Parts: sequence; C-alpha cells; structure tokens
Amino acid sequence: MISPVIVALDFPDAAGALALAQRLDPGRCAVKVGKELFTAAGPDVVRACVARGFRVFLDLKFHDIPNTCAQACAAATRLGVWMLNVHASGGSAMLTAARRAVDEAAGGREAPLLIGVTVLTSLAAADLRAIGVDAEPQEQALRLAKLAQSSGLDGVVCSAREAAALRAACGPRFQLVTPGIRPAGAATQDQARVATPVEAMAAGADWLVIGRPINAAPDPAAALAAILDGLQGDAK
Ligand code: C5P
Repeated sequence: MISPVIVALDFPDAAGALALAQRLDPGRCAVKVGKELFTAAGPDVVRACVARGFRVFLDLKFHDIPNTCAQACAAATRLGVWMLNVHASGGSAMLTAARRAVDEAAGGREAPLLIGVTVLTSLAAADLRAIGVDAEPQEQALRLAKLAQSSGLDGVVCSAREAAALRAACGPRFQLVTPGIRPAGAATQDQARVATPVEAMAAGADWLVIGRPINAAPDPAAALAAILDGLQGDAK
C-alpha cells in the first residue's frame, strides 16, 4: 500500500527541509513543499526531494488567468512533482487549461495529481460574504469540488470534517487531501478543527497532510512510524 501520509516541509530554508527529508524514508511518506519553502529555496529543493525518491506535493495554490496558471502547472510537472494544486475558484477555463497543460507536460509519463483548493479553512461565512459569496463554507466547498471534478481535476483539499460529504458527492475515485490532522492526544496548535489520522481515513480521506506532529517531533521518523502503525492497526 502507498503511504497516505504527506509530511509538510514547513521550513524557511532548504537546509532545514532537507535535514528532515534525510531522516524520513521516501517509501513511507510523501513530502509537501509550500509557499514559504519554495519562495525561499526555489525549484532546487523540489528537485532535491524528487532525486531522493520522494513523491512531492507542490502546494503553491496557483490562481491566475488560464494561460499563466497553465504554464505554471506545466513547469511544476516538468519538475517531476507527484501532486500540485490550484484554486478551484479560478474558474472552469483556468481549471481545464491547467489539466491540459499538466497532461501535455507529462508527455506520456504518468501525470501528477491535479488538486483543487476549495474554500480556505481560515475563511468563515462572514469572510465569504465580505467577498461576495453568500454561502456557508461547506456549501461553497461542495460547489467548488463539483466544478473541479467536472473540469477534470483529480481531487480537492478539504478538512476531514467535510470529507464524508465530498466523498458522497464526488464518488470513490475523487482524491481527498486533508490537512488539520493530529494524532490522538497531540497538541492542536493553531488548527481549530482537527481529526486523527484514523478518523480522517474513515471519513474518506485519501491523503493526510501532517506538519508539526512529524516535522517538529524529536524523532520525526518515529512519529511517522507511530502514525502508520495506528493506521495499519485500524485496517486489520
Ligand atoms: O503543522 P500542521 O500539521 O498544522 O501543518 C499542516 C500543513 O497543511 C501546513 O503546511 C499548512 O499550511 C497546510 N494546510 C492547512 N490547512 C489547510 C490547507 C493547508 O493546515 N486548509
């Protein structure tokens, strides 16, 4: 089984990120490169992770006119990433352009998973109203997930709390990527609505984005192993 855990390399520079990657087994997790690390360290840190055998989720949440978004997605694909994402609210033309660009740039190789961001979990109903969206966050997330699916995306990022509703609406093959994961008993830090790895998988998540419970642990490999053991124990 491919490990569902994606470890967030949330570091301000390549040295910190690669030091963590060094302590992790690419057979037991994927890694996520986000805006902080990418802006500081650039594509070389992505290439370094790919070269070490990691599946890399490039979490840059592209949102632009269709051509610009598509070209950025093509560039990410050429870096060899396994997963990348765009804002579903960029609209159908942007999403279909991104899909086409990713497939073309993959050039016959397996294309990376193209994932949509629906509603940022930092936004509440009042924030949506202030930007002209008169819907509850979950309703808007569902609407954008369906748009992402009909535009050819492989899945969406969502909270574990939304996963069951999105799974029911979008079917078994739609990929659900869930952050806000905390092993039972771990500190929630700034995440308000968390789920354990077992709860998230039971709700229908395919991939678990986990940051501080692994990247800030004294022994990151042991923290990852404990999470994977918990999932395996649950699957028995
Ligand atoms: O440390 P922690 O497990 O909270 O890190 C979660 C990771 O997932 C971070 O990289 C964060 O930016 C990302 N993320 C999130 N919530 C979202 C989307 C992404 O926490 N809704």
